Amino acid sequence: MLQVRGLSVNYGAVCALEGADIEVHAGEIVAMIGPNGAGKSTALRAIAGILPHCDGRIAAGEVTFDGRVINTMPPHKLIRLGLSLVPENRHVFSSMTVLENLEMGACTSRDKQANREALNRVLALFPRLAERKRQRAGTLSTGEQQMLAMGRGLMVSPKLMLVDEPTVGLSPNFVDVVFDTLVAINKAGTSILLVEQNARLALEISHRSYVFEIGKIALSGESRALSEDPRIKKSTSARRTRREFPFARRDPSVGVRAAKRRFPVSCLQSDAVVRGPRPQVFHS
Ligand SMILES: Nc1ncnc2c1ncn2[C@@H]1O[C@H](COP(=O)(O)OP(=O)(O)O)[C@@H](O)[C@H]1O
Ligand SMILES: [Mg+2]
Repeated sequence: MLQVRGLSVNYGAVCALEGADIEVHAGEIVAMIGPNGAGKSTALRAIAGILPHCDGRIAAGEVTFDGRVINTMPPHKLIRLGLSLVPENRHVFSSMTVLENLEMGACTSRDKQANREALNRVLALFPRLAERKRQRAGTLSTGEQQMLAMGRGLMVSPKLMLVDEPTVGLSPNFVDVVFDTLVAINKAGTSILLVEQNARLALEISHRSYVFEIGKIALSGESRALSEDPRIKKSTSARRTRREFPFARRDPSVGVRAAKRRFPVSCLQSDAVVRGPRPQVFHS
């Protein structure tokens, strides 16, 4: 369905991605994981045709979708071919209502009947959006905005949906909802190319994955096999610790909790004790 061969992308003189080969077959969820700044979003932008809007350009390589070379095709034409993008940071239209945002997703289609059906499908998939149809998108919670961005991307009933970091800034409940929804969308027949910071979950729901290093793809393969790879295991367990305690650094009790591990509980009368000289009891 999607084939990316030897893709290199430059922003001005800076090379952000070099020689990337990516494939997505019909029916698959394919994940792209790796550190920040590795070029994952750049790859999605190149595929979605929005690089020129980000001061970037394809320096080498070829992107084909359903057998057609789409390197230079503008985004609105790519959408008609069945390729839609759910962008990083959601980018909902804040001053427009939920309904208007969804309608914007279908603005490239004049088929009113198909648009109505797509809208009904999206509202059935996201009952929370259906309840908030008339609400301005800017007043939705982050998780609801993510649902809206995904709903907007689904309005064209894409063959392939490109989804960039859908769980950033979301509470754990919404992270689960997003992942469950991606699986449901895929089961209903849409292929998905997913960029995701939560490598462990991305490997869990995807069929195959590409592991990025700065500017290139370092590893690729079946997600199940990759999740057993010691190099991946190491980085995903580190990630899990950070992700499962996303508010840890802001929680003032964290210092006390950490201290409790080092000091006996009875010594923790106040922060002053924690910070002060080592209590006598330690020397007994
Ligand atoms: N519009 C831009 N102009 C210049 N450099 C950019 C732009 N967007 C991204 N980059 C650079 O390209 C590299 C890859 O970025 P990106 O694809 O966003 O990484 P990732 O999505 O993996 O975190 C980074 O070094 C980033 O600074
Ligand atoms: Mg990114």
